[in-house]
Amino acid sequence: MKFVSALFVVILIAFNFSCSHKQIKVMPDLIIKNHSYSNYDSIALKHLYLSLNVDFEQKVLKGKVVLDIDNSSFCHFLILDTKQLSIEKVLLEDSLNTAWSLGKEQPHVGQALVIEITKDTKKVAVYYHTSPAAEALMWLDPEQTLGKKFPFMFTQSQAILARTWIPCMDVPAVKFTYSADITCDKQYLPLMSAENNFVRNDEGKYHFDMPQPIPSYLLALAVGNIRFKSLGESCGVFAEPEMLEKAAYEFSDLSKMIKGASELYGEYAWGRYDVLVLPPSFPFGGMENPRLTFATPTIIAGDKSLVSLVAHELAHSWSGNLVTNNTWDDFWLNEGFTVYFEERIMEKLYGKNYAEMLSEISLEEMHVTMEDFMQTAPGDTKLKLNLKDRNPDDGVSDIAYVKGCMFLKMLEQEFGRKTWDLFLKGYFDHFRWKTVTTEQFIAYLQANLLAKYPKVEVNYNEWIYEIGLPKNCPQINSIELSRVEKMAQEVNIHKDIKYIDTAGFTTHHWLHLLRNLNADSIRQEMGSMDSLYHLTQSTNAEIQCDWYLLCIDNHYTEAYPFIEKYLLTVGRRKFLKPMYERLASTKEGLDMGRNIFFKAEKSYHAVSRNTVKAILKME
Ligand code: BES
Ligand code: ZN
Repeated sequence: MKFVSALFVVILIAFNFSCSHKQIKVMPDLIIKNHSYSNYDSIALKHLYLSLNVDFEQKVLKGKVVLDIDNSSFCHFLILDTKQLSIEKVLLEDSLNTAWSLGKEQPHVGQALVIEITKDTKKVAVYYHTSPAAEALMWLDPEQTLGKKFPFMFTQSQAILARTWIPCMDVPAVKFTYSADITCDKQYLPLMSAENNFVRNDEGKYHFDMPQPIPSYLLALAVGNIRFKSLGESCGVFAEPEMLEKAAYEFSDLSKMIKGASELYGEYAWGRYDVLVLPPSFPFGGMENPRLTFATPTIIAGDKSLVSLVAHELAHSWSGNLVTNNTWDDFWLNEGFTVYFEERIMEKLYGKNYAEMLSEISLEEMHVTMEDFMQTAPGDTKLKLNLKDRNPDDGVSDIAYVKGCMFLKMLEQEFGRKTWDLFLKGYFDHFRWKTVTTEQFIAYLQANLLAKYPKVEVNYNEWIYEIGLPKNCPQINSIELSRVEKMAQEVNIHKDIKYIDTAGFTTHHWLHLLRNLNADSIRQEMGSMDSLYHLTQSTNAEIQCDWYLLCIDNHYTEAYPFIEKYLLTVGRRKFLKPMYERLASTKEGLDMGRNIFFKAEKSYHAVSRNTVKAILKME
């Protein structure tokens, strides 16, 4: 009996201790602005310090964040964004207990963490741990990696997922410097979007500094069995050892790319530029984490044919990371400028023909999206979006990327490349280390370009604020691709693949061919096409995707085991989305899709998983 009551007391004390922090007595109004609860208009966040331990067993990050703030407007509360976090305690100046409370959970944005502060508060320390289900975090078991021996973890903070691993002001309008101490088991190497360590140490303790100010969506961490290979004085590649040489071969032009980009729009501002090749579950093609781009292994095609993705992420070092969209409604300022810049890098390095080919392919993808959105969500065809109460992820489409880029191309054509390049360089200079809204961009455009050439009329309002694609959208006619179109036409008319001539074909010729073939026309030809070109067994993720779509349309069942394998390994949303959509378009396909998803789900990142679930109506 004594024992039982003693136990009861212990439990009571433990329980009491865990909830014993002072709650806020009168909560301030919680306002969600630009997908954030934080009171960033009143309090400046200057520096963020992280101290975290990486626990692969529990799939949890645990430690603290210390925020250096400037509270010169004497607010009583600091309000931060959190989602799925367990807050343990909050200390002012890292020593004084203070009252804090979590607000009500809201869709997408999570919960506000309200902390009582004084007018003199300079440092706020939040002790916390993450949840194994944290949306930004992907924890991979050894079998989900290439080496199969060690687990791996990585973060994906953009757009508003940083709050699932760090309590912070999770809004792109706020920029701060950061530093971190990360501890993990000694066999792993942690990397961050910061000054990195290149080799492991026996203590498993690593320090990071990011001396340049960044927004929260660029906070990044990856931990695993990772090795480094240098590709020049200030760039290189990180990957699992099994991938390192292949990746180094694929990115051998990295130095040239950095040089080319700097020649176009000004010096590279971040010191080093390295690329980390992640395991295949990475949900994106690439993520422009400063100093350390995260990339999908699906761009390692063996022939350098998909490196424009690195040009894209590198370009973000100017458009996005240096000059940042102020809100997610201004997302086109990040991505449209980056696609434009990416194409300029590609043109500079590999010539106009190749760049045009890439450009036409993305323009055609955008036309498809445009047609679809005009039927289903016409508002989302504007460059300036309205994502209030929505997931900013909804704004990630070819509209921001390609319509945005075409707008800039139109301006280039109107003013001539020389004038336009000077303008753009000036823009990057003017807004460096700052953020920019669409309206600030327009004001800058008016003052620094339009006002100087009053005779040139530009319909920028139509491009930015109206739906659809303006008539003066530049046309792109790649010579290479028109050759492919002619072939495809012949095949479609004669239902015979003998009209295909693959001499000189690159990945992008293939993509264009596959996209221009009518599924019906080649129904009888699938087998012979496959035995001639071995498409089902291709290891090029882009070609696989387009070929497999045709296979699904034509019930070419020989490919089904390969389709399943593809969907079980690749986690990149860009591929999963069309594949599952196509499957879901028939009853038997939907069943097949659901069965595969059931097995694959574990190796998809939350970002991809949620998209696929919606397609398969499994929410
Ligand atoms: N920043 C994006 C990825 C992103 C956007 C993540 C929005 C979360 C929310 C990155 O730069 C990107 O655009 N990646 C593309 C690559 C591309 C267009 C070459 C991708 O992942 O496919
Ligand atoms: Zn991008």
